[in-house]
Amino acid sequence: MRNLNQDTITQAVLARFAGTPDPRLKEIMTCLVQHLHAFAREVKLTEAEWLQGIQFLTATGHKCDTQRQEFILLSDTLGLSMLTVAMNNEKPAGCTEATVFGPFFLEDAPHYEQGADVANGARGEPCVVRGTVKGLDGKPVADAVINVWQADADGNYDVQYAELAHPQARGILRSGPDGGFHFKTIRAEAYPIPSDGPVGDMLKATANHPWRPAHLHFMIEAPGYERLITQVFRDGDPYLDSDAVFGVRQSLVADWVELPDGSYSLDYDFVLNPVR
Ligand code: BEZ
Ligand code: FE
Repeated sequence: MRNLNQDTITQAVLARFAGTPDPRLKEIMTCLVQHLHAFAREVKLTEAEWLQGIQFLTATGHKCDTQRQEFILLSDTLGLSMLTVAMNNEKPAGCTEATVFGPFFLEDAPHYEQGADVANGARGEPCVVRGTVKGLDGKPVADAVINVWQADADGNYDVQYAELAHPQARGILRSGPDGGFHFKTIRAEAYPIPSDGPVGDMLKATANHPWRPAHLHFMIEAPGYERLITQVFRDGDPYLDSDAVFGVRQSLVADWVELPDGSYSLDYDFVLNPVR
């Protein structure tokens, strides 16, 4: 294989991967090469632009550490995360829709009893959250494991504070025998995704903002049902139609109701998809 030119190189590269033993890896590599080459041809990629792309990806890698995953942020802001979620979480009508996981989940969040204050000192407007977990058949799902996490009034998750001694604004509860759950927390607020790295530079260069509309994250697990990873979004938020990570679904938008004492309440019911 010599003297390859712009008309013959794609076939030569594809031939190089033709013997890949794992059929799925072969499919992915073949498709990746085809699309990458088609992309470079379509935009008539210059050598300077190729190098700029390499430098951007290098900087993206350098920005990653145990707390920061810049590649996931890149995937999120390119819509790739939400596309993957959408393709892999098609559910029957009536089920609660899934959306992006985000980088701020903690594996070992504190466990709480019903009614507890999961804010645990996080700054924000007081808020009670109530709901039920049901199956698609309408039957309550008892003892479901409900993981909840959110940002504080300053738009930060607890993991973004280096000096914090204990988890805040996150916790794990279990639904009661009637599928019900309730807990205290703080009102969700809009916040910008971390934008002090290459992804932030990319957003600026493309005249895009880094904001996510106010939301509360949920992960709900129960035997016999698909795991649900989702978020509930605050109605009226100015960023609902321009979420930096494309995660908003109308069925996940809910009302945070202001109560006479100035605190808030959110009621939201979840419907799980049974495992087939
Ligand atoms: C989040 O909602 O926590 C999130 C999602 C994607 C990127 C950054 C944050
Ligand atoms: Fe979030």
